[in-house]
Amino acid sequence: MAHEGADIRGTCCEGTGLGGVLRDRLFPTGSLIRLPKEFALDRLIPSFRRKGYGMTAQVLDGTSIANQIYAELGHDIERLKKAGHTPGLAAVLVGDNPASRIYVNRKVAACARMEIVSRKIELPQSADTAAVLGEVDALNADDSIDGILVQLPLPPQVSEKEVLLRVSPHKDVDGLHPMNLGALLMGNHAWASCTPSGVMQMLRRSGVEVEGKRAVVVGRSVLVGRPVAILLMHAHATITVCHSRTKALASVCREADILIAAIGRPLMITQEYVKAGAVVVDVGINKVSDPGLVSRVFKDDPVRLAQFEEKKYLIVGDVDPVSVSRVAGKLSPVPGGVGPLTIAMLIHNTACAARARLGHLL
Ligand code: GUN
Repeated sequence: MAHEGADIRGTCCEGTGLGGVLRDRLFPTGSLIRLPKEFALDRLIPSFRRKGYGMTAQVLDGTSIANQIYAELGHDIERLKKAGHTPGLAAVLVGDNPASRIYVNRKVAACARMEIVSRKIELPQSADTAAVLGEVDALNADDSIDGILVQLPLPPQVSEKEVLLRVSPHKDVDGLHPMNLGALLMGNHAWASCTPSGVMQMLRRSGVEVEGKRAVVVGRSVLVGRPVAILLMHAHATITVCHSRTKALASVCREADILIAAIGRPLMITQEYVKAGAVVVDVGINKVSDPGLVSRVFKDDPVRLAQFEEKKYLIVGDVDPVSVSRVAGKLSPVPGGVGPLTIAMLIHNTACAARARLGHLL
């Protein structure tokens, strides 16, 4: 049986129903036996339909790609320092969202690693729009700061639109000011939002060809879904953007050569959403504390189970990695995938903003 399994894996082709070898053994050429469609093996066991049944996707290692980017950035930053200016990043954290605090601390730690200036500005959960705008105004006017990041989400009483509009477009290293989003749309942007740029770096540096490919983005947020779709389009992919009201989501996703999951729904994308051999980039970062879900998905993963046992939660993406790695060609993990690249691109954008400002300052 083990031998037959290997044969099936080697010969199953998408859309052909039974694998060639198995089909030929059961129904030799000339056989008049025909099974009704609903008994076809690929319908009974959906994964049989997929070329590469049983395979494990190649891991897209965001941490090592981020390290490459940091190494390159080190030279840029050195040049800026030699020209008399150390790049500076300010992060504004409003309220007590624990995830936001962790992200901001990681961003500040990346500044320390790259030996650039960082400033963390904290405002209480009760802060109003005027208080946040006041901090943004001060940072806009501060010559030691090249990049400003206002961590999202903001508390509900703070107008996100007003705040994002107030950040100087020249210091908007998040790429969320309408001027920068417009430039992105026109294809003449100096930098793009960090997570979408991180996704593009991941694809490029992993040798994933984008030109001419079908890319499906699940999620239409301003932070990720929309800008990553634009970047993929600039890279000559054919784009579909899906969202909560998309009909037949799984079958649309199965058309993707490149699938970007940015919906914020833990472990939602399973192998039924993925074409055999597709590249799947998981942008989700979700905290899961449901023991039933964890033990169902990670039942064969002692490391994850031990982490859950210890912390009583797990950080997972939008993709079920166990299911999807059976069919995908490449898959980015969570953690260790897009997350480290988002931060590396923030430092990259800060260095870009510093370079642009240095021209004006000197
Ligand atoms: N919250 C989650 N991701 C991000 C990000 O990339 N930028 C900002 N400003 N807030 C976030």
